[in-house]
Amino acid sequence: MGRKFFVGGNWKCNGTTEEVKKIVEMLNAGKTPSTDVVEVVVSPPYVFLPLVKSSLRSDFQVAAQNCWVKNGGAFTGEVSAEMLVDLGIPWVIIGHSERRLLLNESNEFVGDKVAYALSKGLKVIACVGETLEQREAGSTIEVVAAQTKAIADRVKDWTNVVIAYEPVWAIGTGKVATPDQAQEVHSELRKWLQNNVSAEVAANTRILYGGSVNGANCKELAAKPDIDGFLVGGASLKPEFIDIINSAT
Ligand code: G3P
Repeated sequence: MGRKFFVGGNWKCNGTTEEVKKIVEMLNAGKTPSTDVVEVVVSPPYVFLPLVKSSLRSDFQVAAQNCWVKNGGAFTGEVSAEMLVDLGIPWVIIGHSERRLLLNESNEFVGDKVAYALSKGLKVIACVGETLEQREAGSTIEVVAAQTKAIADRVKDWTNVVIAYEPVWAIGTGKVATPDQAQEVHSELRKWLQNNVSAEVAANTRILYGGSVNGANCKELAAKPDIDGFLVGGASLKPEFIDIINSAT
């Protein structure tokens, strides 16, 4: 079974109702390959999920940007996996570096959230990635392996997991990892899965690259054997997102 190319658009904390309607119009008008070739998932802020879900073309899917580690109750400000399932949202992004770094989400907490979301039937885009300091200290692989291990310790069935490798130094900086830099980490991550989970999970789990992907650099990145797609931030709000989706072919 081949790994189907996957393009995610992480809208982060951006957009007004009017802007979101325009982005959806742009996406709906885009010419893209069929769902046999590429899986496209866009992730607006929570408050726009129903609007995007009801107006987006049916061959694109929707993801939330986070969800809580337990069912609801006294957790002010949180949104539960159950609520996303209730809304018909199939995907959730978990462990984005902005949450790991700004909100102190630990590897263990991220692992717990991934396991909980999967147990409720959500599909998960689990993010890993090193800071510039960690890269310069030579600990990139160690860092992403520890982040992945916290997930592997809690998850047995990887069918509904996609990993997004997002080097923190490349996020929103315009400083994209070179195709070789990204390929190296993707291939090490796959080896880690092979050695620590199973050959089957290593062969079938999609590993996306995220960090300053745009219409101009996506083709070269997509050509690398272990890059199975992208998680796109800034460029996912612009027409070039359609070009990125088309890098699948
Ligand atoms: O999740 C996507 C991301 O963090 C990359 O953002 O703006 O560098 O494409 P950006």
